[in-house]
Amino acid sequence: MFFEIISDTPETLSTDCLVIGIEAEGVLTPTATLIDQCTGGAIQALINSGDLTGKAGELLMLHNLTGITAARVLVAGLGKADERKDRHYRKLVKGINQTLGKLKLKSVAIALDGLASDHPDTYRQTRLFTEWTSADFYQYDSTKSKKADPVSLEQYVIHLHDEDAELGESALLDGVAIANGISSARELGNLPGNICTPTYLAEKAKALGEEFDSLKVKILNEEKMEKLGMHSLLSVGRGSAQPSKLIVIEYQGGKDTDAPHVLVGKGITFDTGGISLKPGAGMDEMKFDMCGAASVLGTIEAAAEMQLPINLVVIVAAAENMPGSQATKPGDVVTTMSGQTVEILNTDAEGRLVLCDALTYAERFKPASVIDVATLTGACIIALGHHATGLLSNNEELAGALQQAGDFAADRAWPLPLWDEYQELLDSNFADIANIGGRSAGTITAACFLSRFAKAYPWAHLDIAGVAWNSNGKEKGSTGRCVSLLCQYLIDQAEAVEVNEEAHH
Ligand code: BES
Ligand code: MN
Ligand code: ZN
Repeated sequence: MFFEIISDTPETLSTDCLVIGIEAEGVLTPTATLIDQCTGGAIQALINSGDLTGKAGELLMLHNLTGITAARVLVAGLGKADERKDRHYRKLVKGINQTLGKLKLKSVAIALDGLASDHPDTYRQTRLFTEWTSADFYQYDSTKSKKADPVSLEQYVIHLHDEDAELGESALLDGVAIANGISSARELGNLPGNICTPTYLAEKAKALGEEFDSLKVKILNEEKMEKLGMHSLLSVGRGSAQPSKLIVIEYQGGKDTDAPHVLVGKGITFDTGGISLKPGAGMDEMKFDMCGAASVLGTIEAAAEMQLPINLVVIVAAAENMPGSQATKPGDVVTTMSGQTVEILNTDAEGRLVLCDALTYAERFKPASVIDVATLTGACIIALGHHATGLLSNNEELAGALQQAGDFAADRAWPLPLWDEYQELLDSNFADIANIGGRSAGTITAACFLSRFAKAYPWAHLDIAGVAWNSNGKEKGSTGRCVSLLCQYLIDQAEAVEVNEEAHH
């Protein structure tokens, strides 16, 4: 599928389908007015007859219109201006793509005059449209013997007015790069645990390093981690036949002296719970427990593709959490790389055990910020459901920047408190910290645990347990959530650098 921006007159576009909009109560958008005039009033006639109303989400395909070059016109209802939220825009895009997909069309031109979203920002509208459309056509077939039919749409044209075209072009470039990062993340998430092992994640990282000159990849094996004192991370993989890996990718897009942003991903390629075994129902979904890793890998791929003028480091803490004769037992005490000891009261609280050593490792990069991404707690699903990522941080400015980035990218995060009052829930009689804090505030105590290892830099934690995958029927699968938020955060950081430099010159 190839996206492009075109500013030619809509009535002369040669395309399999031209998509236009009408607003609530049958109000014609500028392009709808134009097409109506060219076709001798075909659109207005349908409004008059009640076939078209402009209600949000309405879709009507029109054939054989004379006076224009498009083979079909798809009229999309945009609803009332004051009721146009991101979720309506998302639904509209999905509806359009489903209609186009069913008809197996080869080309389409979308001309909605910037009226499908309440945000007037052309860059945002175009970028989201590109990301969402690409996501709508994602198909998983890697482990099916019968491969999916290739997507028939070859040319996807977004029609913008002349003065918006340049902004649209840059939105398209970013949007395609981010969309690619999202599909890479979804693909890794969807792959089963017997294929997507820590070693497989490491191989994928190496492949990224081959693809982009700007990426340097380093894989730390268990022996190397042992030497570094990462006994907490290593304790998680003890029961598994699969060796644990620490994956480190450095992207240099900024100056040598620019402090990097660090992204840390939880890469538990399967979480049985270990000796604190999980119940059987739905346990297959614990193959998604590496979605944090997938999203930071997808993000650095997108950053490299966008050639962002910043420095970035991705660290993936990858392990498989299994029971076994060598497995860590409840009550075991391990020494983390930081020197702090941890009493492992529950081997199912393993995410924090791999992340804490990765967070200590991050110190060596003298980072500007560190953000970890993890399917960390079931409690986050209870707190925020399946819409928002949980956001906890030791730095207000960073938390604000992330929340804002999520709003802009329609990939939202919502804050939870990280007050000191919660810290004592992690007290242990036998070590410096316990790895669980009891039944209450599970997402917060998990973040409290991580905060003990993140004192050296501005740090934020994104709990994606509720958003990383869908569990429902045909929708079941990885979402790629957080790639978009993280990319937006990095784009914002890159812009801040540019503004600063301009101020200095
Ligand atoms: N990977 C799980 C968290 C999870 C569970 C995410 C279900 C999405 C859906 C994590 O490793 C875990 O097991 N957490 C425990 C922590 C508890 C033992 C303190 C949990 O949430 O139950
Ligand atoms: Mn677990
Ligand atoms: Zn887990």
